[in-house]
Amino acid sequence: MQRPRTRLARKEDAKIIEDMIYEWTKGQWPTWQRERVKTILKALEDKNHLILVSEINGEIAGVLHLIFYSDILLGSLNCHVNFLLVKEGCRRKGIGFSLLDEAVKQARRRGANEMHVDTIFEDAAKFYRKYGFIDDGIWLELSLQKEFRKE
Ligand SMILES: CC(C)(COP(=O)(O)OP(=O)(O)OC[C@H]1O[C@@H](n2cnc3c(N)ncnc32)[C@H](O)[C@@H]1OP(=O)(O)O)[C@@H](O)C(=O)NCCC(=O)NCCS
Repeated sequence: MQRPRTRLARKEDAKIIEDMIYEWTKGQWPTWQRERVKTILKALEDKNHLILVSEINGEIAGVLHLIFYSDILLGSLNCHVNFLLVKEGCRRKGIGFSLLDEAVKQARRRGANEMHVDTIFEDAAKFYRKYGFIDDGIWLELSLQKEFRKE
């Protein structure tokens, strides 16, 4: 296997990225495919979003989406790994770490202070801890698609 090559995602990668996400999430989450491709294209044009892909033998094997935001509490630029996905069959070959390496490099270059990530998967948490992330706080979610306030 060739060494993975990490690069910025391009417009023509949007459908491939969507296919990877679809493959990974099908049966688990509802799919909003058409909206997702549009959202990827929108993110690619937004300087607060960074999408990296990892290629092996010219094919995309991994993708990482990093979001930058101004943290008015800490008074600094921070960033959040929205998701990181490596194709099944390409895992445990260092692609995940190499995508994180590039994300860290680019985040430092932009002057970001911290990088955060959340995951519901214990295996992924092990991967992030191994990389150097530490457990810090509790992650909660509020669905805005339904009523939630209790009288
Ligand atoms: C989590 C994920 C991104 C890891 O990618 P990867 O390319 O396989 O990771 P790497 O090869 O760089 O792994 C580096 C180290 O992390 C640890 N690690 C990776 N996957 C792991 C797993 N499933 N369980 C425990 N530790 C793991 C190992 O220590 C590994 O080193 P080793 O293979 O020498 O033991 C990949 O498994 C994946 O895409 N999972 C599904 C999507 C997901 O859960 N994404 C994260 C939530 S947003």
